[in-house]
Amino acid sequence: EQIEKGGYEHFMLKEIHEQPNAISDTYRGRMLVDKGIIRMAGVDDNMERIANAKRIIIVACGTSWHAGLVAEYIFEDIARIPVEVEYASEFRYRNPVITENDVVIAISQSGETADTMAAIKLAKEKGAFAFGVCNVVGSSISRETHAGAYTHAGPEIGVASTKAFTTQITVLTLMALKLGKFKGTISNSDFQFHLQELERIPEKVKEALKSDELIQEIADKYKDAPNCLYLGRGYNFPVALEGALKLKEISYIHAEGYPAAEMKHGPIALIDEQMPVVVIATKKGHYEKVVSNIQEIKSRKGKIIGIVTKGDEEVRDLADYVIEVPETMESLTPLLTTIPLQLLSYHIAVLLGKNVDQPRNLAKSVTVE
Ligand code: AGP
Repeated sequence: EQIEKGGYEHFMLKEIHEQPNAISDTYRGRMLVDKGIIRMAGVDDNMERIANAKRIIIVACGTSWHAGLVAEYIFEDIARIPVEVEYASEFRYRNPVITENDVVIAISQSGETADTMAAIKLAKEKGAFAFGVCNVVGSSISRETHAGAYTHAGPEIGVASTKAFTTQITVLTLMALKLGKFKGTISNSDFQFHLQELERIPEKVKEALKSDELIQEIADKYKDAPNCLYLGRGYNFPVALEGALKLKEISYIHAEGYPAAEMKHGPIALIDEQMPVVVIATKKGHYEKVVSNIQEIKSRKGKIIGIVTKGDEEVRDLADYVIEVPETMESLTPLLTTIPLQLLSYHIAVLLGKNVDQPRNLAKSVTVE
């Protein structure tokens, strides 16, 4: 097992650090930047069917559901197809309206999650086209779907999903770009810019990983907090949900993720000098609005940990700590902002002496209802 961990103390830490390679493995062979094309057999072979969908319904659970939420922003923005994102366990039991014009995308690292599998079977029965985004090759969901795209993240052993999340987002971004190009909803120059920027992401993830020492210091400061709030907007709202899920599942600290602007509709009541609030406040995407949310937290004496774009001064002046990530285009920020949140939950769990790779009550793949 020590050899499998490749010198890291835990699988989770190894998998966090594998993300630069995992992301490039996901786009390698698919994204031909010089030629300005994306090749994905599962999409190419079914282009008319997918591009003409009246609606895309994404079904998934847990972290994969969060990747689906990020994809909702990407698909609507780039391919102009309406998207709904559903918890597979709710979708399958509520007699959903599904038509032959729908494309249902199942996202699952393991490809074995029982609820996601059942949701796909239901969608097929109703005549929808089923597309799988799985990591495990030959898994049940990848076999049950009409077509799909693997994430190629390599084996993920830690129960807390890390590289599965970033590679799912990468595959779904490629898919949205491909559909957008086919439909003409993205300009050639924008398409090309996306490809070039996606190609730079692995290097930028490496850069983001360099904040590890600072994050250990922050983890030590807040490890005894009983609660923690995560806020983000737009593309980074699902990242806030994912950051909170990571913290609760491995450290057992109660954490909630919220869209930053929803704070004033309830969670603001929780804020006092005991409450750490992690705020994703990157330069692109409602930055000024998020800064005013930070001011509201500060005036209630909450402790602020800002995830900011490199060189940011405004949030630095307000926050207790800032963790910088490199600049990128808004739609790709989740691939960077999620990195410090993974490391933060990891270090808090280690400092608290928790079983990071196998947290209590959880299984890597949930094959029961
Ligand atoms: C994430 O850290 C979880 N352990 C869990 O939420 C997981 O993402 C969920 O069970 C879905 O698994 P899947 O991607 O294999 O379908």
